[in-house]
Amino acid sequence: MQKFKVTPWNVEGDVDYNKLIKEFGVSKIDKNLLDRIKKHTGNIHLFLKRGVFIAHRDLDVVLDKYEKGEKFFLYTGRGPSGHTHLGHLIPWIFAKWIQDNFKVDLYFQLTDDEKFLFKENLTLKQANDFAYENALDVIALGFDPKKTFIFTNTQYAKTLYSLALEVAKKLNFSTTRAVFGFDNQTNVGQIFYTCMQTVPCFLPSVICRKNIYCLIPHGIDQDPHFRISRDVLPKLNYYKPASIQNIFFPGLLKGGKMSASNKNSAIYTTDKPDEIESKIKNAFSGGKETLKEHKLYGGNPDIDIAYQYLKFFFEPDDKKLQKIYNNYKSGKILTTELKQICIEKVKAFLFEHQKKRQEAKKKINEFILND
Ligand code: TYM
Repeated sequence: MQKFKVTPWNVEGDVDYNKLIKEFGVSKIDKNLLDRIKKHTGNIHLFLKRGVFIAHRDLDVVLDKYEKGEKFFLYTGRGPSGHTHLGHLIPWIFAKWIQDNFKVDLYFQLTDDEKFLFKENLTLKQANDFAYENALDVIALGFDPKKTFIFTNTQYAKTLYSLALEVAKKLNFSTTRAVFGFDNQTNVGQIFYTCMQTVPCFLPSVICRKNIYCLIPHGIDQDPHFRISRDVLPKLNYYKPASIQNIFFPGLLKGGKMSASNKNSAIYTTDKPDEIESKIKNAFSGGKETLKEHKLYGGNPDIDIAYQYLKFFFEPDDKKLQKIYNNYKSGKILTTELKQICIEKVKAFLFEHQKKRQEAKKKINEFILND
């Protein structure tokens, strides 16, 4: 059996999500919880239906409170080490759906400090420039400017730093070492950093001078940070943050997630149509070695990257998706044809996204929090 490893900075191997859920101590999203969400939203987001969001912490508690009239706010973020890729969009698209349905605020953190501290060759200026680029992608998804607050850690430091100190005082080195696996070579900025990621979990409570529940949509790799937040916040008399967690959008290569640190694995939101086309054409496929074999025995959609992309969100129609699955498995559809379906969908999505990204440049000031 292949081993896997998931940390906020690195994902290796083929992730067994059932095992990871147990290891992290998070709860699976079950039918009961889906029905409860549906009661408020009327429908179930594709990401919930297709098992893209699989785990949570205390989402039931947030719903209990919401049903009694207590609002919550959303918090999510991005470590700006490069351009945004398709995988990053998953928690953000979902956050937008929650914002629309529950009419809640979103606090969005851009951690230029984190990426500077953890990436050897990245300057603070480069991280800061990517924060701007990434913010355009967030805005392009259509968040409500009146309810969405985007900030970059170094630009909003005057507000964030004093709150991070409150966290730091309640967190000792042995806990951070145990959670993140730090050692004697770890730079001290990295040891402190998690305090900055905890701050937005209670920032609105500080601003509004009352405790407000926090719900964080994020990829499951970020859970270790919020384990610390959940440990520390009650010590500062704030609520523990709740979370809803997604699995990883696959990279273009065999196995592994789409990752900003592996350029060959990623389709960026800034990619041009010909780049998208050539990347998907070269993606790992579940097709057979020869045309003859493929037609005879069929392909394997379960490991095929183009099919996985359609399943995550590029083919929202369940019936069409099932037909593609069956036809690929039986050999009726060839790998080149399956890839072409995926190429058209991704190109159309990014064409629209890039238009909105361009428009976001004019609107960005409506969203940004500065000291
Ligand atoms: P970062 O920049 O690594 O990732 C941003 C968000 O995208 C998720 N993610 C993915 N989801 C699906 N498929 C993928 N292939 C994939 N790759 C990344 C991440 O889990 C994350 O939710 N330290 C954070 C920045 C941060 C943050 C937060 C994230 C600050 N505060 C609050 C979430 C919530 C980071 O470097 O994320």
